[in-house]
Amino acid sequence: MERTIKRLMSLDMSKKSLRAVALSNLAVGESYFFRDRETWEAIPKAVPNFKNLEILSIGCSEGEEVYTASFVLKGWFKKILGIDVDNRKIEKALLGTYNKWKLRGMSVHEIDRYFRTSGEDFKVKDIYKDGLSFKVLSAFHIPMENKYDVIFARRVMIYMNDEGVSDLVNKIHDLLKDDGLLILGKGEIYWQILEKFEPFPVGKAVFWRKRRRSVSNGTEIDIVKVSLSEDEPFERVEMVKRLLNAGLYEEALSWSRFLKNDNLRNVLAWKYEILSLAYMGLHEEALKVLREAKKRFPGDIEIRRLERVLAW
Ligand SMILES: C[S@@+](CC[C@H](N)C(=O)[O-])C[C@H]1O[C@@H](n2cnc3c(N)ncnc32)[C@H](O)[C@@H]1O
Repeated sequence: MERTIKRLMSLDMSKKSLRAVALSNLAVGESYFFRDRETWEAIPKAVPNFKNLEILSIGCSEGEEVYTASFVLKGWFKKILGIDVDNRKIEKALLGTYNKWKLRGMSVHEIDRYFRTSGEDFKVKDIYKDGLSFKVLSAFHIPMENKYDVIFARRVMIYMNDEGVSDLVNKIHDLLKDDGLLILGKGEIYWQILEKFEPFPVGKAVFWRKRRRSVSNGTEIDIVKVSLSEDEPFERVEMVKRLLNAGLYEEALSWSRFLKNDNLRNVLAWKYEILSLAYMGLHEEALKVLREAKKRFPGDIEIRRLERVLAW
């Protein structure tokens, strides 16, 4: 903790930026490979030039996002830079060694393709490390000399206040090439984004491009909601996701139960309840809810995936 505080002090940030970073450091800031599967399926169809892409991942956590981009875009990118303000996360990213839980969104075939095993751990194969670099750096201090084709800023603004989001959105706008693509977390949306960027739906994902035309915000939000195909009111599901992302598992559990009881057909609420229980280490309880969920939603792929993970 002391190291983190020293590091934060040395970054010479404004008070509001410091607050955002301190908040995210208090939270877990967890990530995993192929998070938001729809995004990874859509990226190859959406990238502007398909060659020599320069990619930036802001708030890259332990490298899961950067390595996933390397798996999916191998041969199409020149370099991927991952930055995170937390030096411990960057140390782990540089190692490229993960436990099974981090791979919970991947099939056995994918794991075999991208990792080699080492005891209980999984190491990213060297070939997928080419062109990658990681740096301890605050989002507010990214140097402006490079422009990027693709910028990931997934679940990093959730810790910021309005002013912090405005600063970062402006910065991203300047860092992105004119035909570049901004990628936020599934379900993330901020009014500052809508001012500077327009949604660009591809398949079940929504990306963002620099604004070229003027469409009413209401219409654009509809595009985003439809593309996300969530049947639950947007804000409430989003809030449970945020609680989980922030490591507030007890709160996520009570909200997911509330949403579930409100509408027993809300499959997302069931999934979040199972996830919250799993994160809290309540394995038996998670399995019990999962069995119930399987009966109600027999064909649901994500529930089957959760079952596989809980069986490990
Ligand atoms: C919830 S994680 C998201 C990880 C990944 N992008 C994803 O969506 O799965 C948020 C990460 O952002 C980092 N972070 C928070 N504020 C930051 C800032 N101002 N500059 C750089 N990284 C920051 C945290 O340390 C954490 O690793």
